[in-house]
Amino acid sequence: MFILAHLSDLHMELRPRLLELAGKRGLGYINRHCGRKYIHRRETLDAITRDVKANAPDHIVVTGDLVNLSLPIEYAAARAWLETLGPPHDVTVIPGNHDAYVPAALGGPEKAWSGYMHGDDGVAAGMFPFVRRRNGIALIALSSGLPTGPFMATGLVGDAQLGRFAQALDETSGLFRVVLIHHPPQSPPNRRLRRLVDGAKFRQVLAAHGADLVLHGHDHCRTVLWVDGPNKKIATVGAPSASARTAHRHENAAGYNLFQIGMEDNTWRCELVARERSPDGGVIEVERQVLF
Ligand SMILES: [Fe+2]
Repeated sequence: MFILAHLSDLHMELRPRLLELAGKRGLGYINRHCGRKYIHRRETLDAITRDVKANAPDHIVVTGDLVNLSLPIEYAAARAWLETLGPPHDVTVIPGNHDAYVPAALGGPEKAWSGYMHGDDGVAAGMFPFVRRRNGIALIALSSGLPTGPFMATGLVGDAQLGRFAQALDETSGLFRVVLIHHPPQSPPNRRLRRLVDGAKFRQVLAAHGADLVLHGHDHCRTVLWVDGPNKKIATVGAPSASARTAHRHENAAGYNLFQIGMEDNTWRCELVARERSPDGGVIEVERQVLF
């Protein structure tokens, strides 16, 4: 049995200097402080982190939006948090749109979180996808985070990365293939400004080359949706924010998912265990579902 923990969307923010709030960063800061500043809390993240560690997963993945405005002080705080979570060998990180919030921030996450964003084969940070293999599990890590205009949070994988993604899926065939991407592969029409722009192409690659599990964040919701694979449907599972003090509009309170993965009769089995912050401040199991 291999236990994989999935966290996402911490939105760690530290007080910026005024000079750092030009353009989209300023709008994002105002937006946050009008509505969301009481939502993402460090003490909530710490409670979730303690619970993750108490469950002793074999590996942890973090699917982006570790920070909020892509400022160097935020990157450094996120790095310090990652080091409390585990060493780079046991923790895999991909960027989200808030980690590449403005063009000047491009390349920042790869530098600040170096080691956590590397493939096993020496592929340098910044080249996506990268692939890690752990006990029969292949983690295929993509980047969909890129700077966008104000009030937009779309993502893009891009044709070049999609080509390498298809190749990585073929090369890891037979392993339990877990695909990591920040944006959900498919969004409803009311999330148009927050969707994965080339989601249809991404799903075509999955349909042609197959995978066992797709893990994403971005929507701050615990969701399980199924997309087409070559022989069977593929589960795409969204994690809530790991720092949300309470449920907020359509979003869940802070939580994370554990996947118990094993081989039975030559077939991969996977059970999802969702854990969430409870009103008394603890973290409890809220859902258990055999995916396959
Ligand atoms: Fe996001």
